[in-house]
Amino acid sequence: MQTVDAKGFKLPIIGLGTWDLRGRDCARLVEQAIRLGYRHIDTAQMYDNEREVGEGVHASGRRAEVTVTTKVQPTMLAPHDLERSVKASLAKLRLDVIDLLLIHWPNPRVPLAETLGAMAKMKREGITRQIGVSNFTVALLEEATKVSSEPLVCNQIECHPFLDQDKVIAACRQHGMAVVAYSPIARGGAKGDALLEKIGKAHGKTAPQVCLRWLVQQGIVVIPRTSKRERLEENIAIFDFALTDAEMTAIAGLARGERIVDWTWSPKWD
Ligand SMILES: NC(=O)c1ccc[n+]([C@@H]2O[C@H](COP(=O)([O-])OP(=O)(O)OC[C@H]3O[C@@H](n4cnc5c(N)ncnc54)[C@H](OP(=O)(O)O)[C@@H]3O)[C@@H](O)[C@H]2O)c1
Repeated sequence: MQTVDAKGFKLPIIGLGTWDLRGRDCARLVEQAIRLGYRHIDTAQMYDNEREVGEGVHASGRRAEVTVTTKVQPTMLAPHDLERSVKASLAKLRLDVIDLLLIHWPNPRVPLAETLGAMAKMKREGITRQIGVSNFTVALLEEATKVSSEPLVCNQIECHPFLDQDKVIAACRQHGMAVVAYSPIARGGAKGDALLEKIGKAHGKTAPQVCLRWLVQQGIVVIPRTSKRERLEENIAIFDFALTDAEMTAIAGLARGERIVDWTWSPKWD
């Protein structure tokens, strides 16, 4: 499996997103994904499925090969809450250690230095191997990298052809952090897009595969979600073709400011 190197940490370039997967279906999907070659699973406290994700990882029999990410919810960023909630996540996942722990969303009501101090403590105590952030803007990345005592290995952000994220991607690269693309097929919106369909036809691939390929070809990690086994296979079959420079540029031209994930608590986006 291809990986992206961030400060010595090797993150598998494709993972399974699990938001909205629940119960036995979630555990089964995670297990199937790992059997099909996925080596990276993305969950979060907010998804309320850490237990099932852990079950799927264990059932696969390949725990040692898999990178499991979970994220601390924004209401748990005060140090005491963070520690308590992360230990609860580890217990739900039934893992020896969390591989990658992220701040899910920034919360301006808790000083970032305090949160990052608690995140670093989780790493020092062996609760997590690595730490990082999600939904951080250029300004927040500046602040975070200044105050964190431990390296921040990634920023997980919304990223697909319909949204121009060039500024924040450049900032991640400047700080040596991997970019992890969430909603990488625009919640399914890649399917049916005329350009992606046309390029797909030329390569014998589907529009979602072209969309994912466009991201990984830029060295961006993708975590597409699906509830369907056949799509697990479709979404990972993106390493046997390459887009031309002209195709890469044409796809970049699809940007139209389409932000899918935006909440009242979102930071001021770049
Ligand atoms: N950090 C954050 O704040 C944040 C925010 C959002 C998401 N995430 C993470 O990123 C993951 C992915 O993002 P997402 O779930 O928002 O969106 P996504 O992966 O871009 O899209 C998922 C949707 O696309 C459909 N789909 C999947 N593969 C397909 C294919 N090959 N052809 C057509 N449709 C397909 C799925 O439906 P079916 O189930 O019917 O296949 C589902 O409705 C999440 O699961 C979560 O782990 C993180």
